[in-house]
Amino acid sequence: GLDAAGAATPRPQWSSRLAFILAATGSAVGLGNIWKFPYITGENGGGAFVLVYLACIAVVGLPILAAEVLLGRRGRHSPVRSMAQLAKADGASPRWGWVAWMGFVAAFVLLSFYSVVGGWSLAYIGHAVSGDFGAADAEAIGALFGGLLGSPGTLLLWHSVFMLMVVAIVGAGVNAGMERAINLLMPLLFVLLLVLVGYAMAQGDFARGVDFLFAADFSKLSTEGVLTALGHAFFTLSTGICVMMAYGSFLPREVNIARTVITIGVLDTLVALLAGLAIFPLVFANGLEPGAGPGLLFVTLPLAFGQMTGGVLFGSLFFFLLLVAAITSAISMIEPVVEWLEDRGVARKIGALLSGALIWALGICTVLSFNHWADFHPLAFIGRFEGKTLFDLFDFLVSNLALPLGGMAIALYAGWVMKPETLRDLIGLGEGLAWALFRFVLRFLSPAAVLVVFIYNLV
Ligand code: PHE
Ligand code: NA
Repeated sequence: GLDAAGAATPRPQWSSRLAFILAATGSAVGLGNIWKFPYITGENGGGAFVLVYLACIAVVGLPILAAEVLLGRRGRHSPVRSMAQLAKADGASPRWGWVAWMGFVAAFVLLSFYSVVGGWSLAYIGHAVSGDFGAADAEAIGALFGGLLGSPGTLLLWHSVFMLMVVAIVGAGVNAGMERAINLLMPLLFVLLLVLVGYAMAQGDFARGVDFLFAADFSKLSTEGVLTALGHAFFTLSTGICVMMAYGSFLPREVNIARTVITIGVLDTLVALLAGLAIFPLVFANGLEPGAGPGLLFVTLPLAFGQMTGGVLFGSLFFFLLLVAAITSAISMIEPVVEWLEDRGVARKIGALLSGALIWALGICTVLSFNHWADFHPLAFIGRFEGKTLFDLFDFLVSNLALPLGGMAIALYAGWVMKPETLRDLIGLGEGLAWALFRFVLRFLSPAAVLVVFIYNLV
């Protein structure tokens, strides 16, 4: 078996299926659900975008996530080594290793801006605790966010604190304590989102919010919007950059991958939709702009916290949980890199510090994108990138290019290179219709969807 190939010591394993679900859900549920999903939905006109996004999750995201986890469990090493060894065992070109390399680069760029936004949630914990939202109107709340973006020093401070926390946790080793923390905090986040949806129902324009989210008007959806929806399906499931491959390498053999992956997808989608249901009713009730962009979350929910009883407590708790969700995702981005360095004899702490420092430095570009470099549009000579800042370009590079391309490569490998029997035994869908359907989707539908959306977007 390949499992034992080259492994001197047995690989540590998640203590159970639940532990894996929690860690993988910790990676999946993050800023993508609560911060990004609502604002890109707002920018892309609502319902039709949501519908396409849900279809992308079901038809492209989940099958590829399953394939990625499966490759990780089969390889049982860091993604780079796993892909190389699997390709060898399957008689394929060693070049398949580039999938993992591209994932590394994408994870670097991704974490560099993810950390800056994670820093926003730190800044907002401070605002919430000091009662800054109380009695503030929409304009004052907007000014608060504008002030944060306009201050590179403050952004840099919180970005640094966020990266330090990530490096400290990863450097110490992602241990059982972490498992237990996620176990407690994820359900709490869920409950708090429900409370916020309740508030939006009572105080917001709930009907209009629901209508915006779920009434599909395809005239509002651009082809760029379709590419964004597809990219976000990968982003939100943490798939396409070998993060889940790394997590899958710790997965015990008896765990059913298909069932597990569906659980993760359902939880992730629920959190995103709840965030949308909490935010859009407030947007409309307060005359705010749904397409306001990256600040949407930070200019709507504080309004609710300012007005509700117990708002200081709920507000502080919410931004704390947002921070936790962001950190558990951030850890998953840097962990494969640190493991890869560990494989090369670099001590874990040093590896975490080293990669953390590089990512932190790259993050400064994002910090400046919101102020001094707000008018710096490096690719403006290409029509579609007109008006895009460095932050916008980083996001485009990762979400719209690297993740879908990586995901397509994973689908092609699992669908076409691996022996069908091997795939069948690993996925755990039996030998009937479900399995046939999965294989078909993986071989044809998922890669074709990515390809079509890409080509459509190029011309
Ligand atoms: N899924 C995370 C989120 O939605 C982001 C992420 C992407 C994490 C890729 C790891 C890898 O916030
Ligand atoms: Na997510």
